[in-house]
Amino acid sequence: MKTILCIGAGYVGGPTMAVIAKHCPEHRIVVADVNEERIQAWKSGPLPIYEPGLDAVIQETRDRNLFFTTDICGNIEAADIIFVSVNTPTKTFGHGAGRAADLQYWEKTARLIRDNSSSDKIVVEKSTLPVKTAEAMHCILESRNDDCHFEVVSNPEFLAEGTAIHDLEEPDRVLIGGGDTERGRAAVRELVALYEHWVPSERIVTTNVWSSELSKLASNAFLAQRVSSINSLSAVCEATDADVDEVARALGMDHRIGSKFLNAGIGFGGSCFKKDILNLVYLCEYYGLQEVARYWEGVIQMNEYQKQRFVGRMMRTMFNTLADKTIAVFGFAFKAQTSDTRDSPAITVCRELLEEKARVVVTDPQALDNAKSALSEVDPENITFEQDPYAAAEGAHAIAVLTPWPEFQELDYEKIYRAMQKPAFIFDGRNVLDQNQLYRIGFNVYPVGKQPLSHV
Ligand code: UDX
Ligand code: UDX
Repeated sequence: MKTILCIGAGYVGGPTMAVIAKHCPEHRIVVADVNEERIQAWKSGPLPIYEPGLDAVIQETRDRNLFFTTDICGNIEAADIIFVSVNTPTKTFGHGAGRAADLQYWEKTARLIRDNSSSDKIVVEKSTLPVKTAEAMHCILESRNDDCHFEVVSNPEFLAEGTAIHDLEEPDRVLIGGGDTERGRAAVRELVALYEHWVPSERIVTTNVWSSELSKLASNAFLAQRVSSINSLSAVCEATDADVDEVARALGMDHRIGSKFLNAGIGFGGSCFKKDILNLVYLCEYYGLQEVARYWEGVIQMNEYQKQRFVGRMMRTMFNTLADKTIAVFGFAFKAQTSDTRDSPAITVCRELLEEKARVVVTDPQALDNAKSALSEVDPENITFEQDPYAAAEGAHAIAVLTPWPEFQELDYEKIYRAMQKPAFIFDGRNVLDQNQLYRIGFNVYPVGKQPLSHV
């Protein structure tokens, strides 16, 4: 039996440890976090994050071999392996502000581990970190004058929110980066053995530490780049008569390109893509690779442009003024099947609509609480939050679909149309609605990357 501690009980730490606990019943897994409210929610529910399938895994493992606690220090000594999955936001201050990763939580955690250990430990980087962080952490951990040894291993997590349990159960690959020393190799073997409980060996890839750290940044950068690429083409489609879904289909049938991640929309969001690309940009600048930095920065610029373009098109379509008009925002989460709104494109879109003096009504099946906190600075006179999409659309001049929730496809749009101001507009920012049907009902329909279907 091994004791595994995970520091950080967020979107990554919680689900990952639950799945490890499920497949490794002989190991004791403790998940610790400074946030008492979060830990209480993991202990007795409702769970602090919405993730399909997570409840069942927690039911099976909690209090069997999966435990939650706020006592980080008290659980360090007993642990053989310590996963660290504390957050690493973009720095908002000082050198590298707006680009570099803020590593203060990681460093504090490393010091806690150092100061509360008297036996050897494997420390696993689960958070996405800048290349060479493991090396810095190694220095901190080893800065004690005894023979207690800490081996730092990089094991980035590739789960996507909304499909986290599936991604953890059947990962495309598990990446483990370790040092090229006897102890480094032993630590890697130990992690490989853990994952081999349920992941086929050929999907477990071992590399050196830096390749592992960089591969994680690169994976997110590539995925985000695909979204920005198709979004850039959506602008060309709107200017010509091409249809972005038809272009994406034709592109994706080339097996070298592949069909995934080619949905045009209002841009990517989430806690990772922008942060990780900024990290990559900062790293490139640090090493004097200005051209490489500018190349990746373009992916973020395109994403910002796409959000502005969306609001600009709404403005132009609605007779160049949004002042005093009511816009029903359908979906605030950064993607479907999650309550997460971190860096959601809906935040920018709503702020821009409010700048134009529109009244905004937000509806979302899971993310309303987070939406309220994300827009807490807005005067409540100008924004309302409605669980019921029919109530949200009542009296509205336009609907803007910002999250591709399947629920929005099931709504009775005849009923919605009757309750709206005329002319009624729908801006389908995710191309998920039946646009011809909406047009037949009477809506003026504006998809992304296609010609509008308009009666006006
Ligand atoms: C993850 C990764 O860890 C991050 O690197 C990745 O790139 C984004 O996603 P995530 O699980 O989504 O983070 O973050 P979050 O849900 O914010 O969880 C982090 C947890 O760490 C929080 O619950 C926070 O309370 C906890 N924490 C943070 C600590 O326990 N100690 C600290 O010092 C800081
Ligand atoms: C991402 C990575 O997929 C995952 O491997 C990594 O561990 C964390 O970052 P996540 O941010 O949870 O996961 O969601 P993802 O499904 O990648 O979507 C990110 C954003 O891109 C969302 O806002 C989504 O709506 C958008 N997107 C995705 C598109 O606009 N079009 C697409 O075709 C795909």
